[in-house]
Amino acid sequence: MRLASCHNFHDFRDLAQARLPGPIFDYIDGAADDESTYRRNATSFDDCDLVPNVLRGVKDVDLSVTVMGQKLAVPFYCSPTALQRLFHHRGEHAVAAAAAKLGTMFGVSSLGTVSLEALRKQYSTPQCYQFYFHKDRGLNRAMMERAKAAGVEVMMLTVDSITGGNRERDLRTGFSIPFRLTLAGMLQFALKPKWGIDYVTHEAFRLPQLEEHVDMGGGTMSIGRYFTEMLDPSMTWDDVAAMVKLWNGPFCLKGVMAVDDAKRAIDIGCNGIILSNHGGRQLDGSRSAFDQLAEIVDAVGDRIHVLMDGGVQRGTHVLKALSLGAKAVGLGRYYLYPLAAAGQPGVERALTLLQTEIVRDMKLMGCTRIDQLSRTNLRFR
Ligand SMILES: Cc1cc2nc3c(=O)[nH]c(=O)nc-3n(C[C@H](O)[C@H](O)[C@H](O)COP(=O)(O)O)c2cc1C
Repeated sequence: MRLASCHNFHDFRDLAQARLPGPIFDYIDGAADDESTYRRNATSFDDCDLVPNVLRGVKDVDLSVTVMGQKLAVPFYCSPTALQRLFHHRGEHAVAAAAAKLGTMFGVSSLGTVSLEALRKQYSTPQCYQFYFHKDRGLNRAMMERAKAAGVEVMMLTVDSITGGNRERDLRTGFSIPFRLTLAGMLQFALKPKWGIDYVTHEAFRLPQLEEHVDMGGGTMSIGRYFTEMLDPSMTWDDVAAMVKLWNGPFCLKGVMAVDDAKRAIDIGCNGIILSNHGGRQLDGSRSAFDQLAEIVDAVGDRIHVLMDGGVQRGTHVLKALSLGAKAVGLGRYYLYPLAAAGQPGVERALTLLQTEIVRDMKLMGCTRIDQLSRTNLRFR
C-alpha cells in the first residue's frame, strides 16, 4: 500500500501499522483499560445526523475560524502529542510544516521531541504549548517563561492527566521511554528493520522541552516516573489561576468535561477549554467529548471558546461538532498515522483530504461560512 492509495483515516492507519514496529503502533493506537471510551469517541458522531439545506448558492466556501485570538484557515488543528520523532524521524517538523501549509495551529507537547523554539522559528502558523504541572513551581515558571520568550501564542494546560492512564497494550509490549521491551516486543522491532535504520541514521532522540530539567537521556528517569515523581497531583484551581496570570495571554485547559469546571475556567480567566478524554488514554468509561459538547456549550459557550477532540476521522465529524457549538476541533491519531506512514507528505495529504471533505460537506449542507452551521441542521436519533 502506498500514500497515494490512502483516502481516509483507516487507510493511513493500515499504512502506519505496516511501517511501525508493533509496540510503537500500539502506543499510538492503544488506550486505557478496556478502550471503551476510545471506541465511543469515534462512534458518538454516528448518533447524530445532518439535515442539509439546498439551493443556497454555495459556490465559494470559507472555512476560516478565529479561536482564542488565532485566525485559522480551517476549523481543525493538530492537537499536541508526545514522542513524534519515534513515529517518523521528522516528527514535529513534519506536523508543523503541514499545519503551516494548511494555515492552522499545531500543538507541541511537553514530551515533544523537537524544541518549541526551533518550531516557533521555522513555521509561521499559530503554535500552542501543551504543559504539565510540576511539583517544582520554579520549574513551571521557568518553562512558561521559556515558551513566552520563544513567541508561543497559546498555553494549553492538560488537566486530565493528574496520573498516567492504564494502557495495557504498552504493559504487554514493554513500551516505555527509555525502552524496556519484553522479548515479544523486541521481536516485533526485528520485524521492521527499516524503522530501525531510520531511527539510528537520524538525529538522536531527545525530549528538548524537559532535558534541561529532567535527566531523561541518561536513563535514570522514565516517562512513567516523570508522571509519578515530577508532576503534581495536588494541583488545584488556585495553582492554575496563578499560571493564567503569569502567562498573560491566550490560555486554555485541555481535558475539561464537567459544567462546573468549565465555569471555574472562566472565573480564573481562561480563554478556552478543550473537551477531551485524551483520546481515551486516561479515564476509561469517561464520556466522549462529542456526547458532552451540547451541555457545555449551553452552559458557557457564550463566555469562553469551547473546543473538542477525540475520535475525529471525517469532515462530517467536524461539521457535527461545529454545528453543536464547538469553535474548532482537535486531531490526534488522524495526523499521527499519516506521520508514521509517510512523514510530512503523509500529514499534508491527510489534512488536505479533511479540508476537501469539509468544503464538499459544507456545500452539500448549503453553507458557505462556519457560522452558518447550527443545531437546526442536526438531529439526534
Ligand atoms: C500517541 C499519543 C500521544 C499523545 N500525547 C499527548 C500529550 O503529550 N499531551 C496531551 O495533552 N495529549 C496527548 N495526546 C492526546 C491528544 O492531544 C488528543 O487529545 C487525542 O489524541 C484526541 O483523540 P484522537 O486521537 O481520537 O483524535 C496524545 C494522544 C496520542 C494518540
